[in-house]
Amino acid sequence: MKKISIACLFLIFSGGGILVGSYFIKTTQTYEKQGRTFAYRGGDKENGKRQAQLRGCSLGCHGKNSEGAPYDGFAAPNLTGLFKDYSAEAIESVLRQGIRADGTALYKMPSSTFQYITDQDLSDLIAYYRSIPRLKDAVTYRKISLTKMMQISIGDIQPVVVGATNQKRYNRPAYDEQGNMTGHYIAHSICAECHGQTLEDGFAPSLRIVTTYQLTDLTKLLTLGEAPEGRPTDLMKYMGAVHYPAFKQQEMTNLFEYLNMELFLETHE
Ligand code: HEC
Repeated sequence: MKKISIACLFLIFSGGGILVGSYFIKTTQTYEKQGRTFAYRGGDKENGKRQAQLRGCSLGCHGKNSEGAPYDGFAAPNLTGLFKDYSAEAIESVLRQGIRADGTALYKMPSSTFQYITDQDLSDLIAYYRSIPRLKDAVTYRKISLTKMMQISIGDIQPVVVGATNQKRYNRPAYDEQGNMTGHYIAHSICAECHGQTLEDGFAPSLRIVTTYQLTDLTKLLTLGEAPEGRPTDLMKYMGAVHYPAFKQQEMTNLFEYLNMELFLETHE
């Protein structure tokens, strides 16, 4: 009996050791940056604030005022501090590529959509966060729950290293001549976070449904969070009512036209 319990203890400790070891190896593994070069050139704080609202930096995963918040077993850090502590290049790499300045990877940052944010919008975001007061950290930076540590160690949760950008999408204009975001830019750099890279392959339903919409239906969804025919909304209710009132009317029109006329004629790759 005693021998069995010693053997059990041995197995538990060695198993735990392997998990801790592989967690350590995985989280200290470093990656090469592959994105575009980025130089901060000063920015427009007002647009930065609007981008923070539209992209969910504020009022979302990082807490109401970007002070940081627990997020699915991870800690979404305090952006009112991080944007001041990190260099502009380090911010670019974390947001667009999911890699920290020391080369280690992030696990939850939605860099697959942030990879498309333009240099100017990114500069505006930096200008905004550097202009507002630093709030007290609401979470401990890099804190990860035990369950998530185990999932990382067995490869169940993968780093979000995005690598080179998809040039085809990036090369299309992000703003129209009147200074409004294009439908293409909004769809792929904002909505794609939940609706998927092709806008049909995310955890949220396919955006093909917008081909059954009138413009007023989309406007209602993006300002009140209400779907046509009384269909229930939950997360989309929050996005529509809290984040997307920051869209301009013309931007909703651009998005509507893109989702109706162009998107499903393109081949998605
Ligand atoms: C944070 C995740 C998230 C983001 C970002 C997001 N959505 Fe959604 N969306 C959802 C979810 C989840 C649903 C399914 C309904 C629900 O649970 O609220 C949904 C549903 C929808 C629907 C279907 C509503 C219906 O039943 O007719 C449309 C259209 C839509 N979203 C458009 C958009 C557009 C356009 C954007 C970008 C401006 C966007 N969504 C961004 C999560 C998201």
